[in-house]
Amino acid sequence: MIFTMNTPVVESVLDEQRRFAPSAEFAAAARVRAADLEALRTQAAADPEAFWAGLARAELGWRKLFTRTLDATEAPNFRWFVDGELNVSWNCLDVHLAERGHKTAILFEGEPGDRRCLTYRELHGEVCRFANAMKARGIGRGDRVVIYMPMVPEAVVAMQACARIGAIHSVVFGGFSAISLKERIEDAGARCLITADGGHRGGNVVELKAAADKALADGCDTIDTVFVLRRTGAPIQMRVDRDVWWHDAIALQADDCAPDWVDAEHPLFLLYTSGSTGRPKGIQHASAGYLLGAKLTSRWVFDLRDDDVFWCTADVGWVTGHSYVAYGPLAAGATIVMYEGAPTFPDGGRFWSICERLGVTIFYTAPTAIRALMKLGDDLPAQYDLSKLRLLGSVGEPINPEAWMWYHRVIGRERCPIVDTWWQTETGAIMIAPLPGVTSTKPGSCTQPLPGVFADIVDEDGHSVTTPEAGGYLVIRKPWPSMLRTIWGDNARYLATYWEKFQQRFYVAGDSAHRDRDGFFWIMGRIDDVLNVAGHRLGTMEIESALVAHPRIAEAAVVGRPHEIKGESVFAYVVCRGARPVGDEAASLTRELRAWVTEQLGAIAKPDDIRYTDNLPKTRSGKIMRRLLRAVARGEAITQDISTLENPAIIDQLRG
Ligand code: WTA
Repeated sequence: MIFTMNTPVVESVLDEQRRFAPSAEFAAAARVRAADLEALRTQAAADPEAFWAGLARAELGWRKLFTRTLDATEAPNFRWFVDGELNVSWNCLDVHLAERGHKTAILFEGEPGDRRCLTYRELHGEVCRFANAMKARGIGRGDRVVIYMPMVPEAVVAMQACARIGAIHSVVFGGFSAISLKERIEDAGARCLITADGGHRGGNVVELKAAADKALADGCDTIDTVFVLRRTGAPIQMRVDRDVWWHDAIALQADDCAPDWVDAEHPLFLLYTSGSTGRPKGIQHASAGYLLGAKLTSRWVFDLRDDDVFWCTADVGWVTGHSYVAYGPLAAGATIVMYEGAPTFPDGGRFWSICERLGVTIFYTAPTAIRALMKLGDDLPAQYDLSKLRLLGSVGEPINPEAWMWYHRVIGRERCPIVDTWWQTETGAIMIAPLPGVTSTKPGSCTQPLPGVFADIVDEDGHSVTTPEAGGYLVIRKPWPSMLRTIWGDNARYLATYWEKFQQRFYVAGDSAHRDRDGFFWIMGRIDDVLNVAGHRLGTMEIESALVAHPRIAEAAVVGRPHEIKGESVFAYVVCRGARPVGDEAASLTRELRAWVTEQLGAIAKPDDIRYTDNLPKTRSGKIMRRLLRAVARGEAITQDISTLENPAIIDQLRG
């Protein structure tokens, strides 16, 4: 691992001095006020288990109440609320029917402009019908179901229906390629795939069924049913023994389906994410603990009230779309917005026009979107009535102070608190974030851990870093209910990735961070071989494996390079078989390799830069000098010792 512990963050000291306190009006009406926060923190510190047990009893509906809170017998494979029984879908839908049955659950807008609105009762009916349709095909508790869909209400219906019958869903982002889809289906051993003919994105049609057909053409033998939603109406192939139209499957199904009451620890879903090896890992979450985290943080951090219209722009293919679209806000009885398409279609005002039209009050998005929209200027948002907005959120990567200030000034009109929320696929729910009615925010800092979250920063020896501004490893000292339980089918990798570094004493997030004098956390970035491109996690090794799978490529090394909008971009150094290509040949191979990676992994992993070299810089022991490659990609001076370099002459080639 190449990582300097004292790497200064980009923010200057001056920026850190800027503070934004919530208005007196916001603070007075907030769900969590200063005294509440104090009380929560005190309880959590005094007895964390009792703290979580109390919340789990108060917030979740149990079929059978648990008697044991935390089971640490197989630590660090922690288990929570072990002998309790519940159903996640029941907790998101049925609980609201009596009092909020007619309240809007989902306000949907498709990219072409079509709109739909589903009340809690209607959503419940749709979920039950689809759950019954799955049951009719023999799908039930413990079966893995892969969901590969556009951002339409049926994506949430499919997830909730799985939860209802105890099936374990694994959502694969619609932007991933057929090959990535196949890998995930095979790793999960899924028997059912739920997809659509396609989806609308940026004025184009994303052909999901065609990609699914390709994935299933060779391998994926465990799949016996494919449900296909008609979305775009484009012609597709249906295989009669395997493929069923969604509308046919639900046509005769009842709109009620008894929930399957499962153990608290029953797996709710798998979600594949990139790590530091070539293979993505299936992060496994459990039912009760996950739901508790998603629901509580929806209310605490987003201050959800009955009349709010909450829009988290994340796709359900990412964890943010799980916790803050499909589960948390529904468990909290909120009205959510779902939008199918690109933020810039038909123009860069789309997000703001949706906010105006649907009366969005809480808006949660990623820094990469904020930066892209900021670049388009202040005029676009100025054309829309954003006066209903009262709270803004950011997630997925560090937000630079400039983007933060623009968000605050131009979108929030200097009136809305901004919650910068740090968390991960693995943590299940927000871990470090402001409480909007209490915490004074600083642009670029995710501020302080939520009650019950024992986050710390430690040095190489595992000692707490107490010097302000000194960097270290971000760790979590105590287990929390919404934590991942394991990596699907590979517990050894779970132990090695998150726990080995400090002899299982705490969870290692894989990020570096530092704390300022006020104890505020500032995330500095990943410390492993993971890139964060436009808020999406990409493993450098995954991209390297994809590149070397190309017949012309002998070796590849991928690093990140800072990018104005995407945060980081993919920079690949490539060694070819045969002569190093130059000129036109190099340009044409570059086009070919970019298309190749798109096909192997998906467009998000496509390298922005490809540089050809005769060899990669390696130490005498054969390790690729990634830090050197990063410095060259950034156009920085090389400061490290290159005397151990096998072939020092290579530096000029790397510089291009
Ligand atoms: C990064 C997304 C800075 C971090 C929810 C983390 C952030 C990774 C923030 C997880 C934030 C997420 N500030 N960095 N507010 N939020 N990250 O699993 O590096 O897709 O480890 O989960 O994103 O990405 P993931």
